[in-house]
Amino acid sequence: VARSFLITGTDTGVGKTTVTSAIAAAAHCRGFRVGIVKPVETGCELGRDGELIPADAVQLRWAAGRERAPLDRICPFRFRAPLAPSVAAAAEGVALDASAVARAVESATADADVAFVEGAGGLLVPLIGRFTFADLARACGLRIILVVGNRLGALNHAQLTVDWIRSAGLTLCGYIVNTLQPTSDLAARTNIDVLRDLIGPPLGIVPFIGMVTRTDADRERLAAIAESALDIPALCTSGGGTGTITA
Ligand SMILES: Nc1ncnc2c1ncn2[C@@H]1O[C@H](COP(=O)(O)OP(=O)(O)OP(=O)(O)O)[C@@H](O)[C@H]1O
Ligand SMILES: [Mg+2]
Repeated sequence: VARSFLITGTDTGVGKTTVTSAIAAAAHCRGFRVGIVKPVETGCELGRDGELIPADAVQLRWAAGRERAPLDRICPFRFRAPLAPSVAAAAEGVALDASAVARAVESATADADVAFVEGAGGLLVPLIGRFTFADLARACGLRIILVVGNRLGALNHAQLTVDWIRSAGLTLCGYIVNTLQPTSDLAARTNIDVLRDLIGPPLGIVPFIGMVTRTDADRERLAAIAESALDIPALCTSGGGTGTITA
């Protein structure tokens, strides 16, 4: 696959799935074949048939227009405990295998024009022992997009993540500011300019999106939001956008 991205976040719950869904919807609506994968999902609910349901992967698959793709391909490793993957796996007496996770990423992205891999939590969350999502990005040659949840604490989390990516020699495509609240508080209002000063311009700012219902109309709504917020063609074809990260 030509362009594969790891979507990481400043923390858990900052909007990785929401932002990835919007980007994937926009890419799909433009006619790109979108690869989507959430290789490891924890905190899965138990379905009626005893199967663990990966809510993020289900939403991502819908957004990318890949409803016919088997869920096992999009999310092969699922765990019940809402913990970091290495810990959730250990709780079930399982040890994830790094090369199996990397192979799953590669096979889910192989036949795509552009592919998005959602991590779990932030970049240094352990998948297996000391092997983190940053290591997965390196192993699979993924460019990193950082979703910054626009709330108090974002300045610290964003800088730590960006500096770490740079010093590790990984490729940072840019960061996206995600709006977590319908009405912005003081931190959310001031973060955007401060992040610009500290890190450089973002790839874009995703507004508050509200509820996502998995309908065709809602996919188009998400696509339109992503199109206004981000340079989707640049992201899908040149692997970048208008935001640049200053050294
Ligand atoms: N732009 C947005 N507009 C409206 N709600 C949002 C937005 N971004 C995130 N949310 C809400 O915030 C919560 C966390 O978002 P999301 O699940 O996308 O985060 P995440 O980073 O993928 O979390 P996880 O680490 O669990 O994978 C969800 O309830 C989601 O609906
Ligand atoms: Mg998520």
